[in-house]
Amino acid sequence: MSNLTHHPQSISLSERETRNGHKAAVLWFTGLSGSGKSTLAMALQEALFKQGCQVTVLDGDNVRHGLNAGLGFGAEDRVENLRRVAEVSKLFAESGFIVLTSFISPFRQERAQSRKIISPLPFYEIYVHVDLETAESRDPKGLYKKARAGEIKNFTGLDSPYEAPNHPDLLIANSAQSIEAGIEQLLTFLKDKGIV
Ligand code: ADX
Repeated sequence: MSNLTHHPQSISLSERETRNGHKAAVLWFTGLSGSGKSTLAMALQEALFKQGCQVTVLDGDNVRHGLNAGLGFGAEDRVENLRRVAEVSKLFAESGFIVLTSFISPFRQERAQSRKIISPLPFYEIYVHVDLETAESRDPKGLYKKARAGEIKNFTGLDSPYEAPNHPDLLIANSAQSIEAGIEQLLTFLKDKGIV
């Protein structure tokens, strides 16, 4: 962009990481509505917070009330939704945070784009998998029912696609295990990666 200058930060990321006692990173949760992304992200946030980490959750339902109010669920709006989330995640991560994002993020290309935006900071794609039948039978917000009745258009998994990750950094098989087991898996993953 013309006529804009990039000011370097006066405190470096490594200074922030040293003070925090952990690395910055983005954990990008992806999965169907009702797969348990937000429940896992919130529980992981609590566990990390208890360990003294700088951690935050960006969640689809919340961000769509503020920053991304006005964006819908057509492909173009979902792409813009995720682009903004990736940019905000980057700002938090550059400030030393472990960022947990909880968005359906249904398209492979946009998830790859998010990785690119956040690079060179660590970006991990966390696939929270449940099959559609399980998500639909849980239907915590009653949205699948509405979508089946034709009251919601472009609903992911029904009349809008979900492109499952081919090579997620971590797969959480969330129909078969408890939230506690998922959190154990995530904490082990973060240790193995040298983040915490
Ligand atoms: S994303 O596709 O752009 O990543 P995001 O995670 O922000 O989606 O929002 C998904 C949430 O919005 C769902 O959990 C659900 O509560 C709600 N929602 C409303 N309409 C739809 C729809 N058509 N498809 C999917 N989710 C929807």
